[in-house]
Amino acid sequence: MSRAAPRFVCSACGGSSAKWQGQCPHCAAWNTLTEAATTLGGPRPRAGLAPAAEVTALGDVKPTDLQRISSGVEEFDRVLGGGLVDGGVVLIGGDPGIGKSTLLLQSLASLAGRVPALYVSGEESVGQVALRAQRLGIDAATVPQLHIASEIDLDRIVAAIERERPRVVVVDSIQTLYSAQLGSAPGSVSQVRECAAALTRLAKQSGTCVVLVGHVTKEGALAGPRVLEHMVDTVLYFEGDSHSSFRLVRAIKNRFGAVNEIGVFAMTDRGLRGVANPSALFLSHHGADGKGGLVPGSCVLATQEGTRPLLVEIQALVDAAHVPNPRRLCVGLDPQRLAMLLAVLSRHAGVATFDQDVFVNAVGGVRIEEPAADLAVLLAVGSSLRNRALPRGMVVFGEVGLAGEVRPAPRGQERLREAAKLGFSRAVIPKANAPRQPIEGLEIVAVERVDEALGELRKA
Ligand code: TYD
Ligand code: MG
Repeated sequence: MSRAAPRFVCSACGGSSAKWQGQCPHCAAWNTLTEAATTLGGPRPRAGLAPAAEVTALGDVKPTDLQRISSGVEEFDRVLGGGLVDGGVVLIGGDPGIGKSTLLLQSLASLAGRVPALYVSGEESVGQVALRAQRLGIDAATVPQLHIASEIDLDRIVAAIERERPRVVVVDSIQTLYSAQLGSAPGSVSQVRECAAALTRLAKQSGTCVVLVGHVTKEGALAGPRVLEHMVDTVLYFEGDSHSSFRLVRAIKNRFGAVNEIGVFAMTDRGLRGVANPSALFLSHHGADGKGGLVPGSCVLATQEGTRPLLVEIQALVDAAHVPNPRRLCVGLDPQRLAMLLAVLSRHAGVATFDQDVFVNAVGGVRIEEPAADLAVLLAVGSSLRNRALPRGMVVFGEVGLAGEVRPAPRGQERLREAAKLGFSRAVIPKANAPRQPIEGLEIVAVERVDEALGELRKA
């Protein structure tokens, strides 16, 4: 039997190289190549000798219906695009202690009233899982279909799934599993990849829905190879500030639903609780609730997350810099975009910040990626710089272009309706988003250029 030449695999991207190098030739990361034990297989059969794959005309195939199972947690169903899917594989990542195990155990407990479910923990003993369940207020007597196991051997887990035939399996976490067929240690790239591939195959064959928990690295990406994200049907990330009780679950990839949908939870002493009206959460309490006045440097943004409008307070602090290179710092927003917006502010509104430190924060630990946040960032910066609060009950959205123009944002009507519902009375928005019919209680200020929007500061 010939032994394959050792290959080196990058722990960041999963790319392989024939020899060891300091830098990965695929993703340019340093010191990430580790030797991967390749399986000791015999020589591959020549392609001509293998039986041909079955090929069918598209018209002869009946489309398979997606069978969805509600996860039993409404906000979780929302990010999943309506529930778990039979034969689907979900990968859920997030920092340690953010609530992955809690959410999945809660979900399984509420699922198990309807369908058989299995929770496999590679990190905790069955006793610890039972203790967590007790803490979550799960009454074991009411969920006889919820089975738990503490196991890290892939083959034994696969055999258990084949014997028990659960509808939903949670494997917590994929980095703890190991396959005895590979020589490397649990958590190594080849182990993570092999274990995930085996569980994905099992899901597709048996129709069991598999949920994999994945750890994230310090940089915030899922540890282990990127191929994990390609392999599975759905990738979810848990986000949130560990100092606040709020948690967001965001869909990054979803073959069965919309991406960028979010589920919002609050961590309580009895587990995670879904938050039906998340807007209230992200407004700080200095009058940013539509009724009171705001403090200088604060602006309420009407953003859109998936199908849901969300009101978030954007705070800016602009302060005289005492170093030659003033600092620009963003929490929850894109720093590159901030630099661009400050340039637009200087060029098209005559507001210079070259000698100022600028800090911008999205309140509540939420991360905002859409460009429609631009106008709110500019108004918050302008407000802090002039030390003037924006008018009471004001809400803002709109993208800002390099020529100083204010561009429309998608789903403007929904944002405005959400703002009106929460008691906001004035909306500064792109002209193209101005509603044809007036919205009750909401005065619309439609602007075309940034300097018009900054005019709001004078009215305060
Ligand atoms: P956990 O689900 O173990 O996180 P992960 O699996 O993502 O690592 O979350 C544990 C954290 O949540 C821990 O810091 C304690 C807290 N917690 C509560 O506040 N209330 C609860 O009911 C539970 C079970 C955990
Ligand atoms: Mg855990």
